[in-house]
Amino acid sequence: MIMRKAVIAGNWKMNTNLKEATSLVQNLNEVAKNNNRINMIVAPPFVHLEPLSKIIKENNFKLAAQNMFWEDKGAFTGEISPLMLIEYKCEYVIIGHSERRQILLETDEMINKKLKACFKYNLIPILCIGETLQQRQEEKTWQIIKHQLEKDLADIPTEKLKELIIAYEPIWAIGTGIAAKVEDAVSVNDKIREYLNNKYNSEIGEKIRILYGGSVSSKNIEEFLKNETIDGALVGGASLKFDEFSYIIQISNKLKGE
Ligand code: PGA
Repeated sequence: MIMRKAVIAGNWKMNTNLKEATSLVQNLNEVAKNNNRINMIVAPPFVHLEPLSKIIKENNFKLAAQNMFWEDKGAFTGEISPLMLIEYKCEYVIIGHSERRQILLETDEMINKKLKACFKYNLIPILCIGETLQQRQEEKTWQIIKHQLEKDLADIPTEKLKELIIAYEPIWAIGTGIAAKVEDAVSVNDKIREYLNNKYNSEIGEKIRILYGGSVSSKNIEEFLKNETIDGALVGGASLKFDEFSYIIQISNKLKGE
C-alpha cells in the first residue's frame, strides 16, 4: 500500500494584517517542530508571503498562495505569476477555490491553465472542487465533481499528477459551520480516487492526496481523519485561531503520522 503524507492547509483568505500574520506563523513554528509527520501549510494573502517566508523555520511547514495567474509575466494588471511565488519560497498554490469560481467567475478553462502553470514550475497545486447545495439536493454531486475533474485536469501529462493535491469542498459547507457528514465526504473522496485510478492508473490514483474542506474545526477533525481515504484538511476560519489550528495539526499528526 502506498502511504500518503497527510496535509493540513490553512486558507487565511482575505484576513490578517502583517502583525497578526507574523505572530500566527511564529507560534506555528513551535507547533511544526513537534508535529513533523504531516505537511503543514498556510496560505496567507499575497502581500504577507515575503515577510512570512523569512520567519518560517521548520522544514515541514510551508507557504501556499491562494491563487496565481497562468502567464510568466506581462500586461495582466493585478495578477501574480508563478515566478513571483517561487521567489518567496512559496511551494503550494490553492487553485480554483469556490470563492474564486463563484465571486471572481473563474472557469474550469482558467483553472486548467493555472494547473498547467503550476506543474511547469513545480508548484504543488491544491485543486478545490465541490458542489453547491442545490446540486447536492438534486443529487448531481458526482456529476459536478466529475465534470470539474475532467475539465480542470484536461491535457495534463499523467506523471505530473502525482504531486497534485485535491480538496473536496462542498460549497454549502464552507464558512457555514455546517460540515459535510463524514460518510458523505468519505463517499465523494472514494469516488474521486476511483475516478483517478481508472482514468490514469493506480500508481497515480493512490499517490494523489485528497483532502476534505468545509467548516473543519477542532470538534470534527478527528472524525474526518479517522478515515483512510481522507488525507487531510483544507481549513478556513479555524486556521486563523492559533489554538484551533494547532489542535487540528496535533490530532492529524497523531492519526496520520507514518
Ligand atoms: P472554512 O473554509 O473552513 O471556513 O469553512 C474552508 C475553505 O474555504 O477552504
